[in-house]
Amino acid sequence: MDTTDDARTRIDTTVAHPARRYNYWLGGKDHFAADRASGDAIAAAMPGVKLMAVENRAFMGRAVRYLAEQGIRQFLDIGTGIPAPNNTHEIAQSVDPSSRVVYVDNDPIVLTHARALLTSAPGGANAYIDGDLRDPEAILAHPDLPATLDLSRPVALLLVAVLHFIREDEHPERIIETLTAALAPGSYLVASHATWEYLPAEVIAALTRNNTDGRFQARTAARFAELLAPFDLVEPGIESVAYWHADDVPGPRPSAEEVACFGAVARIR
Ligand SMILES: C[S@@+](CC[C@H](N)C(=O)[O-])C[C@H]1O[C@@H](n2cnc3c(N)ncnc32)[C@H](O)[C@@H]1O
Repeated sequence: MDTTDDARTRIDTTVAHPARRYNYWLGGKDHFAADRASGDAIAAAMPGVKLMAVENRAFMGRAVRYLAEQGIRQFLDIGTGIPAPNNTHEIAQSVDPSSRVVYVDNDPIVLTHARALLTSAPGGANAYIDGDLRDPEAILAHPDLPATLDLSRPVALLLVAVLHFIREDEHPERIIETLTAALAPGSYLVASHATWEYLPAEVIAALTRNNTDGRFQARTAARFAELLAPFDLVEPGIESVAYWHADDVPGPRPSAEEVACFGAVARIR
């Protein structure tokens, strides 16, 4: 089966999709009217949301580079998003071209971009799995995973700006535990998470009205910390994505309140 053609038939351009809305906020070209309308409605209530997208993406790049420089050569990036500058494999393979990356996303539009994503540096390898974070067993059982990653060796699991699409009744702890239990000692988790912690009640009310399908689940730093509790946080622990290992990023820097997104890197025991 040509999965790309299959994916095209699954793309619904009449409802907003997180991957396309994020691409819109990042200044990309892969979005439709419904994504722009939803993105603009959220930005009207929360003007910092585009900054959040940009800073989150930059955090992901710094975290991948940090782990590549620690010697990590395998990456499992779940909630890949539409390709944008500094995709995981580009950064990892710029440190070591032999790095291997498996991408996973449940949005068919991301799948249509898979061929572009799959262009690996010579000596490295990239794969793309059409999978859902809410079904971690299926991701782990997919044949393309062991074909690309050696799970007996350390892997960096990336859950960057995707956990906030997992509702509490979908058991985020169980998902994280299932995935990390499959990884070798010395593996890492990179995670970021949007928050409404800093927002006034009227803004939260506007964002809640916009979250018509209930798919978005903001969390506090305390709740994010609970999700990461089984792991050893790399310094400085849970931090605004704008400030995690950002000493060398040229200023002026936005405030943590404007960016409203936490990030962390943790070592899996
Ligand atoms: C905000 S984008 C983040 C992209 C990238 N990780 C980054 O931080 O730049 C969120 C991505 O997660 C994907 N996503 C949302 N829910 C998902 C799920 N249950 N399983 C897999 N991917 C999911 C969306 O399709 C989208 O591509």
